[in-house]
Amino acid sequence: MNIILFGFMGTGKTSIGKRLAERLGWTFADMDELIEQREGKSIADLFAQKGEPYFRKLEKTLVAELALGEHQVISTGGGVVLDPENIRRLQACGRCVCLRADEDTILKRVQENTQRPLLEQGEKSARLRALLHQRQPLYDAIPLQLDTTTHSLEDAVQILAEMIP
Ligand code: S3P
Repeated sequence: MNIILFGFMGTGKTSIGKRLAERLGWTFADMDELIEQREGKSIADLFAQKGEPYFRKLEKTLVAELALGEHQVISTGGGVVLDPENIRRLQACGRCVCLRADEDTILKRVQENTQRPLLEQGEKSARLRALLHQRQPLYDAIPLQLDTTTHSLEDAVQILAEMIP
């Protein structure tokens, strides 16, 4: 059994996932971080040098690998939901929770960061709104949802720990 955190960029997947894994004594698997380690480059450089399709291929391979593991809290990248096979594999290996937050909160959280290439193409808030709108049905389809807009990190971890028996 694993716990898989889905959600748009800036919804708290990495910070909450890391703390939840510590609390459970499980492995923390941050997909973007693993991809960066393997490729020896930041996600931003990977997108710039090899393009998004290359990144999506690495992401899909990693999903297939992680889905074979146990006792992991997996923080996915926000775009993992774009491939239905990723969702199917992750749903088959554990409890899936989608983190969400309102647009203004997401914007505040990602504002200063330039490491999210998909938000660097044009005006950030417009890009964010468009992507979020486009993906919302995919996020909504994840059975468990947690809104992190007003929760502290500790509260969010506590709620998740209670949500998942
Ligand atoms: C992406 C989200 C990022 C990272 C990449 C693409 C996306 O992860 O995987 O920049 O398509 O939403 P975070 O959600 O951890 O920022």
